[in-house]
Amino acid sequence: MGRVVIEYRFVISLGLATIVGTVGLHVWPFPSQHPLLGLIAVNRPVVFAGFAYAYATASFTTPFLLINVMASFAYIFVARADRTVRRLPLPLYPRPEQRDQLFLILGEQHRRTSVLPSAEPRWLTIPERGLYTGIAIIGAIGTGKTSACMYPYVEQLVGYRANDRARKVGGMVLEVKGDFCHHVRELLERYGRGDDYIEVSLDSKYRYNPLHNDLDAWPWRDDDDGVHMWTHWAKDVEESLVAAKVPFQVVGSKTDEGEVEKAA
Ligand SMILES: Nc1ncnc2c1ncn2[C@@H]1O[C@H](COP(=O)(O)OP(=O)(O)OP(=O)(O)O)[C@@H](O)[C@H]1O
Ligand SMILES: [Mg+2]
Repeated sequence: MGRVVIEYRFVISLGLATIVGTVGLHVWPFPSQHPLLGLIAVNRPVVFAGFAYAYATASFTTPFLLINVMASFAYIFVARADRTVRRLPLPLYPRPEQRDQLFLILGEQHRRTSVLPSAEPRWLTIPERGLYTGIAIIGAIGTGKTSACMYPYVEQLVGYRANDRARKVGGMVLEVKGDFCHHVRELLERYGRGDDYIEVSLDSKYRYNPLHNDLDAWPWRDDDDGVHMWTHWAKDVEESLVAAKVPFQVVGSKTDEGEVEKAA
């Protein structure tokens, strides 16, 4: 009942003001018999008429304003107290293979200015155009970078339109630990894309030999003192091997020559 009154406070204020104004005009009519007003009526009939209309108008507008202000206070202080917040659930998680657009769901989106759950939570997403730039996942050791970010994010990308040959997404995984690619392979198989997995390694028919190139064997030379920069060369080979996920052990900054030969 109270909620309905608050809801329709404007219309109710209008109705009450009409009643109060009508009664008020009957009880306190315009004092046209007042000698001063009588003088004005004789000398300035237009001004007198203006006073009479203003009086009648004020008899309705004044109670309307007062009632409306009181109703607004009631709305602010009374209605807010018993207002029950209806929390909506998150929208249904859109399955990657059924999404119309390519986007990445990072998590839930709640209030932006306070750490409180929102009554209407939404998915926090990065649209496709935001996926062409980099994403850095930063956190201390074992805080869930891989399990809470990498796995679900890659699953969304791998699973996007998995059955649509023209729209499914491809990518390259460069990693150091060597276990993430197995997870990607499982994901691809789960989405029926097992054949899309290609591993670049010595066991595979796809191999990468960083030493097989047209570069000068002495490309790094310190011109000032004539010392060949072997350490730079070794470091570059090391980085190439790691980037290509070639399973060779590299000790410190000095590349194990036997292993490099094997790679070659
Ligand atoms: N929110 C969580 N609640 C419970 N366990 C979690 C949560 N997030 C991660 N874990 C668990 O913590 C362990 C470490 O997680 P994860 O490997 O994802 O961390 P990481 O940040 O990638 O670690 P690293 O720095 O070693 O790569 C895993 O066993 C994972 O299941
Ligand atoms: Mg990790």
